[in-house]
Amino acid sequence: MFHHAAGGYAGQGTLCGSVGACSAIINLVAKDEDKTHNQMIKDLVNWYASYNHPTDEFDSIVKFPGQKRVVPGSPLCHVSVSTWAVANDIEIATYERKDRCAKVAGRVAMQTVMMLNDYADGKFTPIAPPVSDATETCLECHGPDGDNNSQGQMACGLCHTHKEDHAE
Ligand code: HEC
Ligand code: HEC
Repeated sequence: MFHHAAGGYAGQGTLCGSVGACSAIINLVAKDEDKTHNQMIKDLVNWYASYNHPTDEFDSIVKFPGQKRVVPGSPLCHVSVSTWAVANDIEIATYERKDRCAKVAGRVAMQTVMMLNDYADGKFTPIAPPVSDATETCLECHGPDGDNNSQGQMACGLCHTHKEDHAE
């Protein structure tokens, strides 16, 4: 059902496929009157972006244990893979990189199961850190409570360079 999600959906580098696939499962299980599924998916996305990937928890069964870990700062496949590849000086068309992404997918599935278990026990609470101070500042003017002309909570600086004077 989620074969297409690999490589950020058919190799297009958009949302990390493991986040997308697990979000669909969260939607199936936790879409309730409080829209808990959206709180959970938001938390999964923020957790993913702030997590130091890949985990070493599966090192006993992987081909490349002890890989250097990198916080992607983004849920986007391209950003997540390439910040890691550059930091490790590893090309993306390698088994090392596939191993890294397999660990990421496994860890995202694990995170999702833990969240769903908490939901089933009626005790789900978000654990991911809130947006950074820098992003918070941008959102004061551009977010839903400001001009409401930018979507989401990704780290703005990944794509925009802040013009010091533009907000004066
Ligand atoms: C105090 C309010 C304020 C803050 C804080 C702010 N902006 Fe803006 N931003 C504006 C306004 C007003 C405009 C409209 C165009 C202008 O004045 O340059 C704008 C325009 C923009 C634009 C449109 C293109 C451009 O540069 O004109 C982008 C992109 C942008 N802001 C990104 C950001 C980012 C990223 C941050 C955080 C680092 C940020 N803004 C913080 C008020 C703000
Ligand atoms: C993945 C890349 C990416 C990220 C991350 C990103 N932006 Fe943008 N943003 C764009 C692109 C592309 C545009 C289109 C306009 C342009 O080329 O600057 C844009 C446009 C904007 C505009 C102009 C909108 C308009 O209607 O004039 C604002 C304001 C803006 N972004 C704010 C933000 C803020 C605030 C954040 C962080 C919460 C953010 N962006 C994160 C890529 C991004």
